[in-house]
Amino acid sequence: MKRFFCLLVSLALLAGVAACGSAAKTTPTIRVGVALYQQDDTFISTVVQHLQQLALEEEQARHIKINLRIADGRGSQSVQNEQVDRFLDLGCDVICVNLVDRTAAAVIIDKAQAANVPVIFFNREPVVEDLRRWQHAYYVGSPGKQAGRLQGGIVLDAWQAESSDIDRNGDGVLQYVMLEGEPGHQDALLRTEYAIRTLTQAGVATEKLASDAVNWQRGKANIRMRQWLQEFGDGIEAVFANNDDMALGAIDACMAAGMSPEALPFIVGVDATPPALETLADGTLQGTVRNDAAGQAAGMLGLISALTQGQDPAGTVELTDRKYVWLEYTTVTRDNLAAFQQP
Ligand code: BGC
Ligand code: CA
Repeated sequence: MKRFFCLLVSLALLAGVAACGSAAKTTPTIRVGVALYQQDDTFISTVVQHLQQLALEEEQARHIKINLRIADGRGSQSVQNEQVDRFLDLGCDVICVNLVDRTAAAVIIDKAQAANVPVIFFNREPVVEDLRRWQHAYYVGSPGKQAGRLQGGIVLDAWQAESSDIDRNGDGVLQYVMLEGEPGHQDALLRTEYAIRTLTQAGVATEKLASDAVNWQRGKANIRMRQWLQEFGDGIEAVFANNDDMALGAIDACMAAGMSPEALPFIVGVDATPPALETLADGTLQGTVRNDAAGQAAGMLGLISALTQGQDPAGTVELTDRKYVWLEYTTVTRDNLAAFQQP
């Protein structure tokens, strides 16, 4: 009976193999696990959409299958660690990790190394000591300092062109509020610091009225800005937001307070998300800095492609220190907006 059962199984397997003589099963498949810190983050969901689109194009071009498994860490590092374990158990060929907690990379790198599965971090940068633990740990992202400098540059240009447009009380000092991303996120720290530094280095006197970490979120930025409007009213001449969602939250608050579009302070963001570009066109947002979601997705796919074919990734992507794929930021104002809007 047992032998018969074995025979049956073998026959079934043979039949299976025969049936797959067709393309379906012989198509090489790359399995990629993508772990996100928070799936509903506007910028992160844009990166994922680009990744899916590019993977589709690569499947067609190379006649392969790319299996992307997306997991939402929902803001919890322990949930994300379990998701990474599962990806490794499932036999993923590469994992992409958008860390919940930037300082938690070591554990993940060690697990990936033990399974010999390359790990590509993106958007939330691990410290370099962690990345150096293993040759096949990489980071794809954009340099936060540059975003800060460019954002500060938008305000500086406007100030230098016609300071009275911004300096409402005419005291020669820029009174501003700062809406920050999560505490500890490299982009929140660097954008905040370098935006203001750009102005002060150019000789513009600044005065911070208030700042708060509202974790990249539009709703929270809206609430905080309402409070600041009550406290400082017209005294707020500029709003620096570490990302566009928070800039849009500030605009929501101004509108809710009944301000006319012309009466709004000078508001700038970062990311160049589609809703932010619309708001820029409408005139209530004054500028943003494109965080290259498509470029980051392409960098990740380039690494995935090279690593799964046993190639040196430096041949596919521009690699710094054999670990980093850096995508440049770009200033977006009404002057060059058309180039960034989708047709
Ligand atoms: C983006 C933010 C996003 C954050 C998530 C930043 O680089 O500018 O919009 O919320 O990454 O980690
Ligand atoms: Ca002033």
